[in-house]
Amino acid sequence: MRARCLLRDLRDALGETAVKTDPNEISPYLVDWRGRYSGTAECVVEPRTAQEMARVVKTAVAHGAAVVPQGGNTGLVGGGVPSNGADGRTQVVISMRRLNRIREVDPLDNVIVTEAGVILKHAQEAAGAMGRLLPISLAAEGSAQVGGVVSTNAGGINVLRYGCTRDLVLGLEVVMADGAIWNGLQKLRKNNTGYDLKQLFIGAEGTLGIVTAVALKLFPLPHSHTTTFIAVPNPDAAVKLLRHLQAELGDSIVAFELVQRACLDLVLSSVKDARDPLSERSPWYVLAEVSATMKGLSIDDLVEDSLASAAEQGFVSDAVLARSAAQRAEFWRLREEITDAERRYGPSAKHDVSIPVSLIPEFLAKADDAVRSRFPEAKPIAFGHVGDGNIHFNVLAPVSDTEAIGMVVYDLVSNLGGSISAEHGIGLSKVDLLPRYKDDISLTLMRQLRLTLDPLQSFNPGKLVHVRPLEN
Ligand code: MLT
Ligand code: ZN
Repeated sequence: MRARCLLRDLRDALGETAVKTDPNEISPYLVDWRGRYSGTAECVVEPRTAQEMARVVKTAVAHGAAVVPQGGNTGLVGGGVPSNGADGRTQVVISMRRLNRIREVDPLDNVIVTEAGVILKHAQEAAGAMGRLLPISLAAEGSAQVGGVVSTNAGGINVLRYGCTRDLVLGLEVVMADGAIWNGLQKLRKNNTGYDLKQLFIGAEGTLGIVTAVALKLFPLPHSHTTTFIAVPNPDAAVKLLRHLQAELGDSIVAFELVQRACLDLVLSSVKDARDPLSERSPWYVLAEVSATMKGLSIDDLVEDSLASAAEQGFVSDAVLARSAAQRAEFWRLREEITDAERRYGPSAKHDVSIPVSLIPEFLAKADDAVRSRFPEAKPIAFGHVGDGNIHFNVLAPVSDTEAIGMVVYDLVSNLGGSISAEHGIGLSKVDLLPRYKDDISLTLMRQLRLTLDPLQSFNPGKLVHVRPLEN
C-alpha cells in the first residue's frame, strides 16, 4: 500500500515516464557493472532538474523510503547501487541520466559548470572546444558522470599534476535531505568565509546530499604531449625515475603510471590488436606523459635526454616514445584496458590503496610475498598511479578468499601509514572494514555529520559509514 502511494506521488512529481518500475528496464540499475553488488528498488526515477530532484527527495522521505543516487554506474565499490542492508526500507534509485546539461563553459574565469549527469568525456570535450583543459581523466570517462566523479572524489591519471577531484571543484549545487536546494555553485578561487561546505559533499558517496551541478576548474590546453612507454627493472627504479624526471622536467609530467608485466599480459591476451610496445619482456613498466603548455617547446628531445641519463643510473632498461597520436592512444589503451581485462579473466580482490610514494617498493614486495605464501593459488597484479602513491594491488582469486586477502593487504597498508582507499571510495565493499582502520574520533565525526545532515538516514543507506558502531 505504502509503495503504491510512493509511486503515485513520484509520478505526480515527475510525470509518468520519469518513474520506471518495469523489472527488465530497471534491472541494470540494481547491480554494479562488475556484477559484485546488487539490491532491490521500488523504482528508478529520472529527474531533469534540481527542482525535480528536490521533489523526489521530499516525496521519498515523506514515505520513509531511502534514495540511492546513481551516475554512470562505473564505480568499483558498490556505492551507486541499492543495498540489501537498508533495514528493509523501500529504496528508490535516482538516475542522473537526464540531468545532463552543460550550463556554462567560461574561458575567462576558467570554469565549467555542468549538471551531475553529464558524461565526463562530454564535459572534457566542451572545455576542449573552448581551448581549455578539464584535467580529470580516468578509464571509465566515456560513461562516468560528473556527479559520480565528485561524489566519489575520483582520482585518475592526472592527479600528479592537477590534483584529485576535491582540488578541482569550485562550487556545488546540492539537494539536501529536507528537499532544500543549496546553491553553492560559486566560481571563486578564494572564499574565506568559514567552513568550506562543498568539501563535505565531495567524496561523501551521496550520503549527505545529492549533488545536482558542479563548477570545475579549467586549465590551458597543452600545446604538445610526449607519451613514453618505459621498461624499468623494479618499482624502486620507477620511484627513482619519477623523481629524476621531475627534477629535470618539473611539473610538466602529468601522468606516471606503473604497470606490472602480468597486467600487460592480461591486456595483450584479451584485447584485439593490442601490441607489446617493446621487444624485450620486462617485469615492470612505466607509462609516463609529459605535456607542454608553453608554445614551441620540443619536449620529445627533453624527455629523450632525461630518459638517457636515467638509463645511465640504472632506472630505465628500455623506452619508446609515441611518434603519433595513434601510437599515444595505443599506449594509453594498454593501461586503460587493465581493469576490463582483469574482469574478463575472472574474479579479483581489488585493493585501491595509497602509501607514501617512497614506501611503494617495500609495500609491493611485502604484499606480494604475504599473499602468495598464504594463498598459493592467488595471482597478485599491481598497477596504478605511482606518482601520487596510489597502487591498485589486485589479486586474481576466488570471491570466497576476497575478505581474507583484503585483511592481509590492508593491515600491511595501515602499518606503512597508508589508506585502504585512495580513489575508489568505501561504498559497500569497505564499509565494515572502515572502523578497523579509521580512528575513533574520525568515525564519530563522520557519524555525527551524517546524522546532522540526514537525520532520517534517507541517503544511500548502508554505504560509506555505519551510523551506529557495529556490535561485536
Ligand atoms: C584504474 O586506475 O584503472 C582503476 O582505478 C583501477 C582498478 O580497476 O582497480
Ligand atoms: Zn585508478
